[in-house]
Amino acid sequence: FNWKMNPQTFSEAKGLLSILNTKYLIPNIEYVICPPFIYLSEVLKIKNLKLKIGAQNTFWAAEGAYTGEISSKMLKNLGVEYVIIGHSERRAIGETDEIINKKVLASLNAGLKVILCIGEPSRPKTKNLQPATKTKQYIKTQLQKYLKGIANLSINKLPNSLIIAYEPIWAISSSKNSKQDTPQDAIEMIKFIKQFLTTKYYLPSVKTLYGGSVSSKNITDFINQSEIDGALVGHASADKKEFTKILKILNK
Ligand code: PGA
Repeated sequence: FNWKMNPQTFSEAKGLLSILNTKYLIPNIEYVICPPFIYLSEVLKIKNLKLKIGAQNTFWAAEGAYTGEISSKMLKNLGVEYVIIGHSERRAIGETDEIINKKVLASLNAGLKVILCIGEPSRPKTKNLQPATKTKQYIKTQLQKYLKGIANLSINKLPNSLIIAYEPIWAISSSKNSKQDTPQDAIEMIKFIKQFLTTKYYLPSVKTLYGGSVSSKNITDFINQSEIDGALVGHASADKKEFTKILKILNK
């Protein structure tokens, strides 16, 4: 659940968290909340929180004179377990492929689990409306750029530390005139991603989530597919009513 730059007060954040502390949470689902940095330490103080905490961003250097930045080690030392890297909303404000790659390496080295976002800006339509070869090529290049150097990391738990979030940019709520993806196309792309990670990086079991305007209306269409390991829910998770509905659906 990626709250983005919401809500504006900690008491509202606590309101959202209170929904999670109810009977809705079930043990065979892993719930990860990614609040804004400023709420992380308060959220981590809440006792018996039956969920994992993630950050929405990190910095690529381990420490030093980088005013205003927060390192992966700081997050890890605070008790944060996950970090979202490469979100399209960050790419839109200037984050480059190289920066994303450095952040991935820094976070894995610091012991954080990385939720790496990938996704094409637009999807050219083919005759049968299937994701085109061009789209797959785009995703492949993105993965190669973002994962450059991971083979050199001495992390034997890499499959558990890397999670991919396939988020076609045109389907994310913040993109202009966003459209809805179909579960069939999402499955095809996720199968492709898993196959590529297996053949190129020998990572056969990387969990891959789907993201892009996932809400109470469509979450089951995506997560009921065996190829899709979960969902990255953005704006809907920062809306109390929607969030409650989604948790109720997951509970079933
Ligand atoms: P959305 O965002 O669900 O608002 O489209 C997805 C995301 O934050 O990754």
